This record gives sequence, structure tokens and C-alpha cells, in this order.
Amino acid sequence: MTRSTAALFTASILALTTLTAMGPKDTAPTKVIQHDQAKVDLKVALDTALDDERKAKAFYKAVMEKFGERRPFSNIIQAEQRHANALIAQYERPHLPVPEDRWKDYTFEVPDSFQETADMSIVAEIENVAVYDRIESMVSDEQVLAVFENLRWASQERHLRAFTRHGSGWRSIPQPELNTTQQSQFDRASEAQQAFFNALFTELSTALSEPGPSHAIQICSERAPEIAAQVSEEHQLSIGRTSSKLRNPDNAPPLWARMITEPNPNEPNIMTNNAGELAVLSPIQLAPTCLQCHGSESDISTQTRATLNKLYPHDQATGYKAGDLRGWFVIEVPAD
Ligand code: HEC
Repeated sequence: MTRSTAALFTASILALTTLTAMGPKDTAPTKVIQHDQAKVDLKVALDTALDDERKAKAFYKAVMEKFGERRPFSNIIQAEQRHANALIAQYERPHLPVPEDRWKDYTFEVPDSFQETADMSIVAEIENVAVYDRIESMVSDEQVLAVFENLRWASQERHLRAFTRHGSGWRSIPQPELNTTQQSQFDRASEAQQAFFNALFTELSTALSEPGPSHAIQICSERAPEIAAQVSEEHQLSIGRTSSKLRNPDNAPPLWARMITEPNPNEPNIMTNNAGELAVLSPIQLAPTCLQCHGSESDISTQTRATLNKLYPHDQATGYKAGDLRGWFVIEVPAD
């Protein structure tokens, strides 16, 4: 993957972050005269960056309200304010209006565990880096680009490192480097994945042939979570499914999965942490039969579309072709 496609991918998987998903409604970028495309792009880029820095600041403020003036949050929150100010200064030369801070009065859910809070912050900083990777190509102004580069650097080299020292220690591990314990955890994950896949797709295929796709939706909406719970129980682990384009927002990726910035779409991505837990993000490709519910408009019947719209008003999981990466199994194996 080139840097920019990797960045786009990162941005897309991370776009589903709980922080974002929990966020207040998007405010449309303030209107500027449409004929100046460069200025429109500059405004969108600045608004996007400023929004993300403000979100981080508001979250870290909520963290300090819960845990007190604790490092690294007490330092980093000041940095976030400086970042926001540096961006606000860039609105002046092109005479662009600075948007309202939509995170100011937002109530964040801060986890009870400080370690998990640090994990959330790691993800927030990874996302912040991805935001800069995504928007830098929209801007040609050298001064703005220099500010973006500075802020990106601070997130990547400073904040991310500081939070990493306080987090759960989630890190990627290549399959050949697994020790014996980890290998047996990974084998358990693979068995559970196979069991989940077999059970779900047997039921799905049966329902698709009779009575048909719009009824088969029930298999995915009701049976999929039940089968996942059953397999989790039987295999003493936790299994589910996620995607960068979700149908059901409840399937949002867990924190450790959002730390994998460039997941390999062709094989399982393995993570371990300091507590000896092992987690796997394993790709799911689309077969032709999946298109009845995940394909383009012409693949999906009117009745199926209507049922999907009713159950999933924010459905993003259409427009795929056979062979596309649809999503991932997420499997968490406890420490031995
Ligand atoms: C009959 C319609 C239907 C078919 C066919 C179908 N799906 Fe889905 N799919 C759904 C529904 C409904 C959901 C939401 C499930 C939920 O609520 O958890 C879903 C969710 C998913 C998810 C979880 C992520 C998300 O977006 O919420 C994945 C991954 C997925 N489907 C992959 C597949 C694959 C691969 C196939 C083909 C083997 C397939 N689906 C076939 C209807 C379908």
C-alpha cells in the first residue's frame, strides 16, 4: 500500500471510532463562495483538523475531571489547546470564518480504568495522524501545510508515545513470532472463527434459497449475534464481526483493532498485550451470494432494500463487488 492509500484506509477504519460515533451532529462546513475550489478545500481541511483537535481536548478534559490532574493528560491537554490555536490562526489570512466548537459541552464516557482510557487516547492520536494524512493533499498553502505537519508530528512522536506508556501494551505480532502459549491461543481463535463461519453461513444459505433474501436478513440481524455468543461461550473467548463500512453500528471495532493502522487484508492480523491476551482481526471477503444484501443497487431487491432501510437507517454496507474485503472477524482470547 502506498502511504496515501494506507492513510485513507486507516482513516476509513478509524472513522468508526467510538469517539466519533458518540459525537454530536456534524456541522456542515460554513459556506464560502463556491467558485473558489481551493478555498473551499482549505476551509474543509482546516475545519476537519480543528474539529479533531477540539475533540481530543474535550475528551482529555473529561478524563481529568474523572481522574484528576494526571499525566500525561495534564500536559497533553495544554498541547491540544495550542494545536487548536495554531489552526485558528490560519483562518485569518484567507478570511475564513472559524467554526463553533461542537465538542465544548459534549459529555464523553470515560472508562473506569485508567489503562483503558490511555488506550482510547492512543486511538484518538492515531486517528489524528490519519486526519492529517488525509487532508494534506487538499491544501497547497505552504504555511498551513507546515502547521499540519507540526501537529501531525506532535501526535505521532509525542502524544502517542506518552499514552502508550500508560496503556494495555497492545502490539502487533507476526504469526511466525508467536510463542507456544500464543500459538495455542491463536489456534483457539482460528477454530472459533471456523465454527462461527460454518454455523452462520449454513443457516444463511438455507434461508437464502428458501424463503429468500428479505427473510434471510433475520439470520444476519438476529441469528448472527446469537451464534457469535454461542461460539464465544463454547470456545471460552469472544468473537464478533466488524467492518470499516458498518451495517450495524453495534459492530464497531474494539480499541485494539483500531490500533492496527494498516491491517493486512489477506491474512489474520494478530495483537497481544501486557496482560497476555491475544486478539485477531481476520479478513472476510464477499462471495457472490452476499451481494443480495451488500452489493450495488441492481443486486439488491426492492423488498430487501426496504427491510434493510427499516432495520439499519445508517447502513453503509452496500456497493460491494464479489471478492471485495467486506469486513473482519474480531476474536479476543483471554490470557492462558
Ligand atoms: C440476507 C441479507 C444478507 C446477506 C445475504 C449477507 N449479509 Fe452480511 N449482513 C446483513 C445484515 C442484516 C447485517 C447486520 C447484522 C447485525 O445486525 O449484526 C450484516 C452484517 C455483516 C457483517 C458485520 C459488519 C456490519 O456491517 O455490521 C459482515 C462482516 C457481513 N455482513 C458479511 C457478509 C458476508 C461475507 C456475506 C456473504 C457470505 C453476507 N454478509 C451476506 C445481511 C446480509
